Amino acid sequence: MRQIRFFDTTLRDGEQAPGFAMKTEEKIALALQLERLGVDIIEAGFPISSPGDFEAVQKIASVLTKSAITGLSRANRKDIERAWEALKMAVKPRLHIVIATSDIHLVHKLRKSREEVLEIAVDAVSFAKNLTTDVEFSAEDAIRSDPDYLCKVFKAVIDAGAITVNIPDTVGYTTPDEFYERVSYVIKNVPNIDKAAVSVHCHNDLGLAVANSLAAVRAGATQIECTVNGIGERAGNAALEEIVMMLNVRKDIFNDVLHGINTKEIYRTSRLLTSITGIECQPNKAVVGRNAFSHESGIHQDGVLKNPFTYEIMTPESVGFPGNKIVLGKHSGRHAFTTRLKSLGYEFEQEKINKLFEEFKELADKKKEVFDEDLDVLVNKTFVQDFPIAYSLGYIFFSSGNTHIPTATVTLADSDGVERTEASTGDGPVDAAFRALEKITGIPSKLSSYKISALTEGKDAQGEVILTVEFAGEEPMSGKGYSTDVVVASVHAYIAALNRYINRHNHGGTQGDRGCFKGV
Ligand code: KIV
Ligand code: ZN
Repeated sequence: MRQIRFFDTTLRDGEQAPGFAMKTEEKIALALQLERLGVDIIEAGFPISSPGDFEAVQKIASVLTKSAITGLSRANRKDIERAWEALKMAVKPRLHIVIATSDIHLVHKLRKSREEVLEIAVDAVSFAKNLTTDVEFSAEDAIRSDPDYLCKVFKAVIDAGAITVNIPDTVGYTTPDEFYERVSYVIKNVPNIDKAAVSVHCHNDLGLAVANSLAAVRAGATQIECTVNGIGERAGNAALEEIVMMLNVRKDIFNDVLHGINTKEIYRTSRLLTSITGIECQPNKAVVGRNAFSHESGIHQDGVLKNPFTYEIMTPESVGFPGNKIVLGKHSGRHAFTTRLKSLGYEFEQEKINKLFEEFKELADKKKEVFDEDLDVLVNKTFVQDFPIAYSLGYIFFSSGNTHIPTATVTLADSDGVERTEASTGDGPVDAAFRALEKITGIPSKLSSYKISALTEGKDAQGEVILTVEFAGEEPMSGKGYSTDVVVASVHAYIAALNRYINRHNHGGTQGDRGCFKGV
């Protein structure tokens, strides 16, 4: 049997895509969840690209205990030294070096000859090998590279110490047949390939990233680079969950491979990512989309009731899709709460559990049925509150209706506990509340984006509001808020953005660009 290693690049290639930027605390939460999922290698960033990326890689390196961690470097000593600085405290650090090998990149981007690139690659890998044993080399745009030149580069970098060589389809250009041939060619024509693992990294520009990755596995690749929900540059990367489930569901085809992914953590990982980024998957997304396991047509429903296998090739439970089970209610005690959190894979120190329990009690008072997904929301909220709070919500009252002028009264407490109350009318209760907040703070604001979604099931579902606000005409600040009431969630989100704005002014603007404030 061959062990397939999953290399997740959600935090690097995924985060590179517009709209997917994450704060350090959010990256840590996601990295820990990826570890729980059973990912073998986590690419946590590109350390030289920014101080924020460096800090995130360094912090994640210090919390992971099972997964290996890597950060990307271009093939030069400065990049590698910076990456090593961020990675060196990790239990399992890996250096990952990339340089393009296709003529189109050599001529137009690098302006170097094939011989020069070969020399640079070897020098970089040798340098990295002096720092650590686990070195991966990626030949960017490998699929459009001359196959014999690619093999020559791979042979040389393996001789220099690379123990993984990666074949990226950087531009999502290949087909399963062609990629199968390319991977087979490399395995056959690199004489020292037995000293390295063969990896693939497929982009999805023509919708074939998953199919191409699977073709590579059949050809002998033993590492797959992918992302949660398939996020990534342009049309994204190969989706981790789709590859894993294909390997599981079609064991008859992939009968010689094993992997360490705990599929029951797939749905939770996907939800954590969408909750952090505020970007949902399309409802029909394979494996994790909202409709992935729902049967609408009468014929299908009839079949599934008689035997689920008529229309279900995998069970929702196998990917941890919530069955809407009521797990806890307002009478549940601390023990039941902690046990349930543990069974969901969350273990925290006592102080954090106490805080979560308080929030759970508040929620259970408002919501008769508390589902596993509600607990996920509670946990995610506490993970992302990581900046000083200038204002917090004391009180809110609002009224609206088809014959009423919407009004809202809001009380805000500042960091010294001093409260101020203002009332306002508006175009709706949310607008009225925001105008009252403006009066309290004296900071004019303009809402530039607003998105609301239900995070859990049922009429009393928890809502999540993600918005961006321009305060005093400056660059938009974003904030997230949660509540079973959409107006309250909106006010929490506004205050989160406001706190971020104030924090940036007070501290010279070093924080990330999203805020989150507790709801319930
Ligand atoms: O797409 C690509 O080629 C990459 C490399 C850094 C592996 O992301
Ligand atoms: Zn990529």
